[in-house]
Amino acid sequence: MSQLSQARAAVTAARRPAVLTGAGMSAESGVPTFRDALTGLWERFDPAALASPQGWASDPALVWGWYRWRAAAVRRAEPNPGHLAVAAWGRRVPLQLITQNVDDLHERAGSEVLTHLHGSLFDYRCARCGEPVQVPDPDPSILAGDGEPEQPPRHDCGGLVRPAVVWFGELLPEGAMESASAAVDAADLLLVIGTSGVVYPAAGLADLAHACGVPVIEVNPDPTGRGLALRGTAAELLPALLA
Ligand code: OAD
Repeated sequence: MSQLSQARAAVTAARRPAVLTGAGMSAESGVPTFRDALTGLWERFDPAALASPQGWASDPALVWGWYRWRAAAVRRAEPNPGHLAVAAWGRRVPLQLITQNVDDLHERAGSEVLTHLHGSLFDYRCARCGEPVQVPDPDPSILAGDGEPEQPPRHDCGGLVRPAVVWFGELLPEGAMESASAAVDAADLLLVIGTSGVVYPAAGLADLAHACGVPVIEVNPDPTGRGLALRGTAAELLPALLA
């Protein structure tokens, strides 16, 4: 039996699947994966340096400009057939969707996301008092170029407004890992899509699945060896796997 037919049998039998997605899920929507070289103005920066409290402290305008450019780029992107296949599966069985991605492409494909482990490009909070802050979408015209540094707005308390995303070294949103772990523990299948599995605690969810006897299937052109490996991309493989 081929890997795909073995995986299709497991998907068909699953009644309580959990899905964990990473940046590879959105790659075919034109959203660069986290470890792809950044383009244009951002090319000379290491994303880890920009997506960090240190990066923010040393140049909030540069970090704010980058996130606003990414938010505009995601708003212009469209869910790909992989997102749509996951959403269709979720209409057939109760599916717990856990994502490391900060984009909204799963939601726009029609999925309900249990948790964004690393926050969202479209949520903001005060860097000083932590209060959530509403910020309108960036003007799409910033996509004409590569984006540029922009002074972040100030909250009423005087603090700067920052993206409510998880930066390196920061804690995940309250309760995110608890609900993700509970979902994996209760699942009868874990489908892992498009993640390099190098960032913890999110990467630990596949290990938790193994520890709980939950079978794992991985869709990735460069599988990490965390389960039954389907070597290929989200947009190509998921419609065949989940149809
Ligand atoms: P990475 O950029 O680390 O890994 C992307 C994964 O997707 C790799 O394993 C690729 O092989 C795979 N991939 C690439 N194109 C794909 C495609 N078309 N279909 C399927 N898979 C594809 O992104 P993540 O694993 O998501 O955290 O990174 C995890 C976290 O590291 C991110 O959430 C971010 C970063 O630090 C924070 O921002 C806190």
